[in-house]
Amino acid sequence: MAVPLMDPGAQWAAYADELDQIAIDVIRSGRFILGPQVAEFEREAAAYLGVKHAIGVANGTDALTISLRALGIGPGDEVICPAYTFFATPETISSVGATPVFADVDPATACLDVDDVRARITGRTKAIMPVHLFGQVADMAALRTLASERGLALVEDSAQAWGAEQGGVKAGAFGDAATFSFFPTKNLPAFGDGGLVVTNRDDVAELVRKLRFHGSTDKVTFEHVGFNSRLDELQAAIIRRHLPEVDAWNAHRRTVAGWYEAAGLGEFVELPTVPDGNSMIYHLYVVRTDQRDELIAGLKQLGVAAAVYYGIPHHLQPVYAGLGGAPGDLPVTEQLAATGVAMPMFATMTRDQVEEVVAAVRASVPARIG
Ligand SMILES: Cc1ncc(COP(=O)(O)O)c(C=O)c1O
Repeated sequence: MAVPLMDPGAQWAAYADELDQIAIDVIRSGRFILGPQVAEFEREAAAYLGVKHAIGVANGTDALTISLRALGIGPGDEVICPAYTFFATPETISSVGATPVFADVDPATACLDVDDVRARITGRTKAIMPVHLFGQVADMAALRTLASERGLALVEDSAQAWGAEQGGVKAGAFGDAATFSFFPTKNLPAFGDGGLVVTNRDDVAELVRKLRFHGSTDKVTFEHVGFNSRLDELQAAIIRRHLPEVDAWNAHRRTVAGWYEAAGLGEFVELPTVPDGNSMIYHLYVVRTDQRDELIAGLKQLGVAAAVYYGIPHHLQPVYAGLGGAPGDLPVTEQLAATGVAMPMFATMTRDQVEEVVAAVRASVPARIG
């Protein structure tokens, strides 16, 4: 039995006919951009996350760029972020003209190490941008304290963490702004690109609303150089239909993580750990092993997919060579980039599939020592 890394289509098979009808209804409505579906979704998303404002945009990358612009971040400013994340995180900092400053991550969570963030704050630092990587919430209590002590903005890149929690608070509800992506493989998917900015700050929400539409509210007067970055009605309608399902999908992912543990995967690779108080949503299930190449090759032969995410951390990427990063600068980041491998994880994964994956791991690499 082949096991894929993810299987997004299977999770909405149960209501596929309803989704067809939703698409037809939007097409027949004649409203395609920033209409009633987007407005309703923005209300529902804000209520789900426990935030005051939610503003739909074209994708998760734009959500970050627009958030940074709305917080007044630009040339001459520094923003501290991890180097172990998707490229969009530092890319958006650069695209508003600011400089990403890479901090190391905590080995337990793979999210920002708060002490290392503190050590990298300078007179030019304007914001901290934690990433809730693979669906794990960064240490937001400590980051929030640090940000408020030092007068810094906090922007949560929550692209991978819809529904994840810390201390009963949803990822996205901690920062001055937070962003989400609805790329089809995300835990809450669209059928194309989609993104969201959320905030409790009225000033930030007002500016984000203007910036997503060319810096205007009335399409007549233009107050800022903005973006054309709007969520469309079709995507909003689809996401709305997925929204009531997402908690069950996330719960199933946690069940799958438990199955992996019970099946003995930890005898062969280091399993992800979840700190007390965190509820992880396992956007990806990333284990660690020194025998990554052998593992991936062995699994492939047995029809089991596995993939490396973020194998080259951003301080070592060619685009950031000018920032002077060198191997050894971020030891934990570099270790995780060298050893992390995503195993199959999806909302419809069965216990048999989990057993199959673990049997394939057993056949591919020797047991860990100790
Ligand atoms: C951590 C992170 N940030 C930002 C993004 C960008 O989102 P999008 O692909 O919707 O632009 C992604 C997703 O791809 C991501 O995983």
